[in-house]
Amino acid sequence: MTLNERLLAYKTGFEEKLEALYCEDVPQKRLLESVRYSLLAGGKRLRPFLCSEFCRVCGGSEEQAASPALAVEMIHTYSLIHDDLPCMDNDDFRRGRPTNHKVYGEAMACLAGDALVTDAFCVIAEAAALSAEQKTECIATLSRCAGTYGMVGGQVLDIDAEMRECTAQEVFDIQSRKTGALIRAACRMGAVCGGADEKMLEAAEAYADNLGLAFQIQDDILDVEGEAEKLGKSTGTDENKNTFVRLFGLQRCHEMVAEYTQKAKAALDPFAEEAESLRALADALCNRDH
Ligand code: IPE
Ligand code: IPE
Ligand code: MG
Ligand code: MG
Ligand code: MG
Repeated sequence: MTLNERLLAYKTGFEEKLEALYCEDVPQKRLLESVRYSLLAGGKRLRPFLCSEFCRVCGGSEEQAASPALAVEMIHTYSLIHDDLPCMDNDDFRRGRPTNHKVYGEAMACLAGDALVTDAFCVIAEAAALSAEQKTECIATLSRCAGTYGMVGGQVLDIDAEMRECTAQEVFDIQSRKTGALIRAACRMGAVCGGADEKMLEAAEAYADNLGLAFQIQDDILDVEGEAEKLGKSTGTDENKNTFVRLFGLQRCHEMVAEYTQKAKAALDPFAEEAESLRALADALCNRDH
């Protein structure tokens, strides 16, 4: 199976599961509408796919990865809804449509994010295909990577950095938290659910860290060079941000994306043929335009 075939097949099944999470007939239907609006608006589904692939290459089944894959996409979607709010990046477009707060208002956008982050952990806790140890490990991984010391911490550093010039070390630290941490969580949870040994876990994390860097550098490049139509979000909005492009310039950033992509692929050496799609994914993301 080629990467695109695998990704497409995966996305279809994954989105059916996502859809089924928020379809009850309850009085708070405006909340469900707002959650569904952002969750089912497309998106690359990169993090769930990584979770599922690492589970597979470590010897597990798609079913075992299903709940952590849903959970990490829910946390990611919440982070996007909140990231776009006027008090944060103040963006009007996301995943090809007006941002959540533009349609449902700021209060509902806050609450949709709150609901997603809370529900995500319930989805893992109730996973029938995982052992109690696997569930605990996934919940610990995801909360650590999403919280104070991970994504939320990174968002704080990102906002604080708007006021001043940052060193390279600081920019790497912001990235590794705000974007890297959730990618790390996705890969690590997949490996845990697949029954990975220590060596496999280390390989998954090394791949994630390098892929995460390449991914955010490319995100910063696309804010300058990308097309809003393809990206599904506005461009040119990073003007006050301490991005990789501001620090290193476009040309060096393109080189860095290629370098970290190579490092990500090299980290997969402990896996043979079965990790081919993860190697192809790293290459595809390196050349992405959305
Ligand atoms: C956007 O993430 C935010 C960053 C961490 C750069 P994605 O580019 O994965 O967004 P979707 O899920 O495809 O919308
Ligand atoms: C967002 O980084 C990271 C999170 C949402 C945690 P950005 O602010 O660069 O993401 P985009 O460019 O709005 O997607
Ligand atoms: Mg932001
Ligand atoms: Mg943003
Ligand atoms: Mg960005």
